Amino acid sequence: MAQNKVIVANWKMNPASVGEAVKLFAAIQRTAKDLRRTQAIVCSPSIFLQALSKRLKTAKCVLGAQNVFWEPDGAFTGETSLPQLERFDVGFVIVGHSERRSLGETDDVVAKKVRACLVRNFTPILCIGERVRDVDGDYLSFVRGELVKSLEGISAERLSRIVIAYEPVWAVGPEAKAADTPHAFFEMSVFIRKTLVDMFGRKHKTMIMGIPILYGGSVDEDNAEGFLKEGNAAGLLVGRASLDAKQFSLILKIAERIRS
Ligand code: PGA
Repeated sequence: MAQNKVIVANWKMNPASVGEAVKLFAAIQRTAKDLRRTQAIVCSPSIFLQALSKRLKTAKCVLGAQNVFWEPDGAFTGETSLPQLERFDVGFVIVGHSERRSLGETDDVVAKKVRACLVRNFTPILCIGERVRDVDGDYLSFVRGELVKSLEGISAERLSRIVIAYEPVWAVGPEAKAADTPHAFFEMSVFIRKTLVDMFGRKHKTMIMGIPILYGGSVDEDNAEGFLKEGNAAGLLVGRASLDAKQFSLILKIAERIRS
């Protein structure tokens, strides 16, 4: 059976005002309401989530956060909790994005966040990916290590609700040289599933085969189809192109056309 594609918008620290956020969200929802096989998830800065949650119009476009703290309450200056996000209809949280990891977020912290999300019935979108793709293949052990450490203490039962986003760091953001290729993504997704089978055991293979693995890093309307079709990606994590309503809507429509 064809799996629904998941297209995640990661707005990062944009836009500048709540008015612009509401406008962009409304435009995305206009396209999303006609989607049947595609799920849009808009991960906005936390400060806009309340305004956006009041404007949710279709289940085809839901809200996500870009980060969260693992404790439910307490003296944690500057942090946002899962119970707080719950009040704004947020069901998804990006965890371990490379831009947060480069600010000092460790695998241990990422694992705590993934665990907290799963315990409270949120879906973590766990980001993993190498900084450099070396010819010796060391990047494969790096990705494996990141996966093992980020999933520390997670049971197979809980793992079944995770989403993984493979984002090679060299392909992410305005400094990126290029996107990865659909073929390399496909091979990486096989490697990720194989690592999960090694970690959780062959008896969980069917569940592991069902975990959505998204591609992220310089996705645009020109390369989206390749990753979804040839790369067989379960979806995409879109940064820059998600800030342009036209481009993001086009990517949603491309995903909608694809049957895998
Ligand atoms: P980009 O960002 O699409 O701008 O490369 C992707 C991401 O950081 O998730």
